Amino acid sequence: MARARLNSGDAPPEDLPKPKLNKATLRKAARLLAYLRPYRAKFIVGMVFLFLSSLTALTFPALLGGMIDAAQGKQSYAWIPADIRSIGVIAFIILFAQSFVSFFRIRLFVEVAEKSLADIRRDSYYKLITLPLDFFANRRVGELNSRLSADLSQIQDTMTTTLAEIIRQVLFLTGGVCLLFVVSGKLTLLNLSILPILVVTAVVFGRFIRKLSRQAQDKLAESNTVVQETLQGISNVKAFVNEAYEAARYAKVLQSVIKIAVKGATFRGIFASFIIFCLFGAVVAVIWYGSALVALGEISVGDLTTYILYSIFVAGSMGSFPELYANIQKAIGASERVMEIMDEQQEDIGLLQEEKIIKHRIDGNVAFDDVTFAYPSRKEITVLKNISFEARAGEKIALIGPSGTGKSTIAALVLQFYKPDRGRILFDGQEANSYPLTDIRNQVAIVPQDVLLFGGTIRENIAYGRLSADAGEIITAAERANAHDFIMAFPEGYDTMVGERGVKLSGGQRQRIAIARALLKDPAILILDEATSSLDSESERQVQQALEELMKNRTSIIIAHRLSTIRQADQIVVVESGQVVASGTHEELMDKGEGLYHHLYKLQLVDK
Ligand SMILES: Nc1ncnc2c1ncn2[C@@H]1O[C@H](COP(=O)(O)OP(=O)(O)O)[C@@H](O)[C@H]1O
Ligand SMILES: [Mg+2]
Repeated sequence: MARARLNSGDAPPEDLPKPKLNKATLRKAARLLAYLRPYRAKFIVGMVFLFLSSLTALTFPALLGGMIDAAQGKQSYAWIPADIRSIGVIAFIILFAQSFVSFFRIRLFVEVAEKSLADIRRDSYYKLITLPLDFFANRRVGELNSRLSADLSQIQDTMTTTLAEIIRQVLFLTGGVCLLFVVSGKLTLLNLSILPILVVTAVVFGRFIRKLSRQAQDKLAESNTVVQETLQGISNVKAFVNEAYEAARYAKVLQSVIKIAVKGATFRGIFASFIIFCLFGAVVAVIWYGSALVALGEISVGDLTTYILYSIFVAGSMGSFPELYANIQKAIGASERVMEIMDEQQEDIGLLQEEKIIKHRIDGNVAFDDVTFAYPSRKEITVLKNISFEARAGEKIALIGPSGTGKSTIAALVLQFYKPDRGRILFDGQEANSYPLTDIRNQVAIVPQDVLLFGGTIRENIAYGRLSADAGEIITAAERANAHDFIMAFPEGYDTMVGERGVKLSGGQRQRIAIARALLKDPAILILDEATSSLDSESERQVQQALEELMKNRTSIIIAHRLSTIRQADQIVVVESGQVVASGTHEELMDKGEGLYHHLYKLQLVDK
């Protein structure tokens, strides 16, 4: 259920239900407040400063009113001296004190928020990368990433400013209203009588306008999705000469954005002019009635000034509440979503540690015993049906079959990315579950068809196989992987940057880097998932040599649809539609006559 919200597939991120502020949601959000705990001393000091600075701000209207009265030879309050200069000096002293306090308040709050946010970021990132693959299957990574970063900055905003702002505004409001009554009860009652009208209109209109602006946001998000998807697949767009189609698609969404935005603007305009009318109406009314009271001698000019200044405080703080409330609401929604990720069940990979310690060494015997499996995200399709095979330590076992039959899925199961629904996977005769997850993954390496290199140097990319490897080991691995020569041909050698911002390596070069990586890892079990199938024959030859080197002294599971590479395999398992349809050595399978293997083999001979 919690998951349904996150995997909003096509829905734009803003299409999230706004949480109601109730006990349950607050309690959930409050769990994030626990991250403030290590910094609570600073937080409390900040709070005290906040309190002080708000209180000092409230003294100004009285002082300034007093100053005006003093100019007319009157004294408004006993605590305010009767001469202008003293009042001015006091005002400046308070002003200084306030600036001082404000500085520390801001400084402390930001520090606390940044530090606790970094903790939340670190924890949620760690959480995210330790979640099982299945979690990522039905979510767009880009969306997950932007959602998380947007949610976290929302929380950060709230912690740095909104919380403090709320406290300040509540102080201004309550303090201000009390002081208004002190200055003039009659004026205050007049003012307060206008309030309900304003509040009711504001609430009704506000809700409507918010709905419109949410729709506008949704549309905008939709238009961003168009841009993002087009840019991601820009080569496809170009190859199909669909630039015009994409441009039209974008223009169409933009049109609907405009439509909704303009509609929203109309209502916002009406609302704004109504509010402006009320506000100025209130100002006129207060000054009108106030002047009358001054004329009657009930209050002084200074009092009226003080009153107006306090009402600005009160009006300001009332005006700020809707936004503050909306911010809090957003922050709570954001923290709920962050907590959803935090509450997901992570993989059991033990403590976070870079040093990889293997508790149980495995020799490399792998067996599938009657394994049946469907991807958790697509339960209705059984991808593997009663798969059984066995590879003894050091053997080469080949999995062949048409594409889409579940070969890569078998690889994913060996790596324990998923658990079989029925049947068992055995390593050295023991069930996979009896090993720590990391023990298995630390002793299995995979060279996929499409190797992804991380942004960084070639050296770093090779060292990914074993982070503790020294320079010599990295070079040895590269040499054995047939990669040393092409690496040295780059001016910067092993320090050449690759990945998105670096040089583009060819498929075969990336493959050999992946092989060097795997050599460093020195796994008991090696999986080659169509490792050479996208290469031209020259790079295939070089990669094949490197693969031979890599396959020495370990169990190799070779997934291929090109048969030339697997003739020497100790065992060939033919997979079709998720089932093992035949197995044996090349000769045995050929002897069986007209089977899928025969068919594939004939096709290949014609191919060559
Ligand atoms: N992550 C996934 N979630 C759901 N279905 C998947 C996933 N990966 C693959 N499949 C489906 O499982 C079937 C087998 O895929 P795969 O193991 O990749 O085949 P092969 O490697 O033999 O080409 C395909 O029908 C594919 O659509
Ligand atoms: Mg595959």
